[in-house]
Formats: sequence, C-alpha cells, structure tokens
Amino acid sequence: MNRQTLVVGATGGIGKALVAALIERGDKVIAVSRGRDIDDTWPEAVTSYRLKSHTDENIATLINHLHQNKVKISLAVVTTGILHDEDYPVAPEKRLEDIDENALLRYFAVNSIIPGLWLKHLIRVMDKGQPTLVCLSARVGSISDNKLGGWYGYRASKAALNMLLKTASVEYARRLRQPLLVSYHPGTVDTALSHPFQRNVKPDKLFTPTFTARQLLQHIATLDRQQPCHYIDWEGKVVTW
Ligand SMILES: NC(=O)c1ccc[n+]([C@@H]2O[C@H](COP(=O)([O-])OP(=O)(O)OC[C@H]3O[C@@H](n4cnc5c(N)ncnc54)[C@H](OP(=O)(O)O)[C@@H]3O)[C@@H](O)[C@H]2O)c1
Repeated sequence: MNRQTLVVGATGGIGKALVAALIERGDKVIAVSRGRDIDDTWPEAVTSYRLKSHTDENIATLINHLHQNKVKISLAVVTTGILHDEDYPVAPEKRLEDIDENALLRYFAVNSIIPGLWLKHLIRVMDKGQPTLVCLSARVGSISDNKLGGWYGYRASKAALNMLLKTASVEYARRLRQPLLVSYHPGTVDTALSHPFQRNVKPDKLFTPTFTARQLLQHIATLDRQQPCHYIDWEGKVVTW
C-alpha cells in the first residue's frame, strides 16, 4: 500500500502552505492544481497533477489512476474556492440588487460543486480506517451565524458545501471506519482571495498561510472520531451550522 496525503488547489495561498507544512512533517504529498505556477521547488516527496478543469470526468480519471497505483489517502484537503474574480466577473454582493445569475452559478460551481465532486470520487481511495477529509469552508457559510447579511453567493455556496460535506459524512461513516470530515474556517488569511477585503482586518487577525496550515493540521488531529463531521474554526472552536 502507498499511503499519502492529498491537497486539491495546491497552488492557492492556503493550498501551497499546506503542501509545505505536510512536507515538513514528513508526508508524501499529492498536489493537485489547475497548473498555474506548479512549484518546481517542491521536493521528491510531492507528486503533482495538473487538472486543467475540475470536471466529474477529469476527477474520476485522476482517482482511477491513483486507485490503480494502490494509493491510499490518509488525509485529503480540498481548498477550492472563490470570493471574487475580476475576469468573470464575480464580486461579493452588498445588496439584493447586486445578485447576478451568472455570478451565482460561478460561486456554486467552484465553491460547492467542485468540492462535492471530490467528495464523490475520493471515497474510493481514502484509507479504510480513520481517514480525514477537510474542505476549506468559511464562517460566513454558517446559516445560524449570519448576522451581517450580504455576500449572497459566497455565503450560500459555502452553506451548500457544508451540507454536501455533512451529508457525505453519513455515507463515509457507513463505508469507512471512523472517517473524519471537517468543514474548516481558517479566519482571514493573507491570500489573493482576501486581498481586496483586508482593509478593516486588525493586523493580528490577518493570518499568514503558514500559520493557517499549521493550525489546521494541529486541530484536525485532536477532533473526536466518534462524531464523523465537524465544523470548526482556526482556533479549533465549533462553528454552528
Ligand atoms: N483567505 C481567506 O481569508 C479565507 C477565509 C475563509 C475561507 N477561505 C477559503 O479557503 C480556501 C482557499 O483560499 P485561499 O485563501 O488560499 O485563496 P486562493 O489563494 O485564491 O486559492 C484559491 C484556491 O481555489 C482553487 N480554485 C479557484 N478557482 C478554481 C476553479 N475554477 N477550479 C478549480 N480550482 C479553483 C485554486 O486552485 P489552483 O491551485 O488550481 O489554482 C486555489 O487553490 C477557499 O475555499 C476559501 O473560500 C479563505
């Protein structure tokens, strides 16, 4: 058996730091990204795969390849997400009138459907005993915690991601032994995603990707496997769904 960890979105701000943190702790890492800036400084411990677009078919092909090579994933982290995209264009809505059909479709496509497809396919290659699967969500995806409003597409698509993860956890728990599925809020992290929205963030609440990656790995190691699905933040505190 060939036990490894896997990061989807490995050239994003948090994804790249996660790959580095996993290498640091001695893991063999599978790094999946769309191929922007594949990091050629990554050592031998990293196997990288380019997936130009994360379609059902492309993800299935990659998972088949891993399956044929008897790869078993002990930890998978899906970091895929967008908050803004000037080219598309997608930007967080401030008021109802800002809601845009195409922007909503884009939010759901990247923030909910792509991670959902990974949940679907990854089960075939996860370790049978005590695997961990983390999706980078956000606190604004919490329905019960929504006090400020706004950001319709991002909030709704992260809430949908949470539901996909929670629902998948029921089936993962039936098919694998003590799996852990985690919806993770990393706090505000200094990456391209948060860059236009950092103005009002106190300096001590704007985290580096390196800090974020270490916090995530530390917290998931302490979670109770009697409960298959958790929604937690960067401090390891429970976020209410
Ligand atoms: N930064 C924050 O303050 C913050 C706060 C709360 C939650 N989060 C969540 O954390 C996650 C990582 O964000 P980040 O801060 O690291 O942002 P980032 O640097 O912009 O990274 C975004 C990630 O999403 C992937 N991605 C974007 N569009 C995609 C598409 N169309 N198809 C496939 N993959 C796509 C990218 O993958 P490639 O490697 O292939 O480019 C990249 O890994 C996101 O889910 C975000 O919602 C971030």
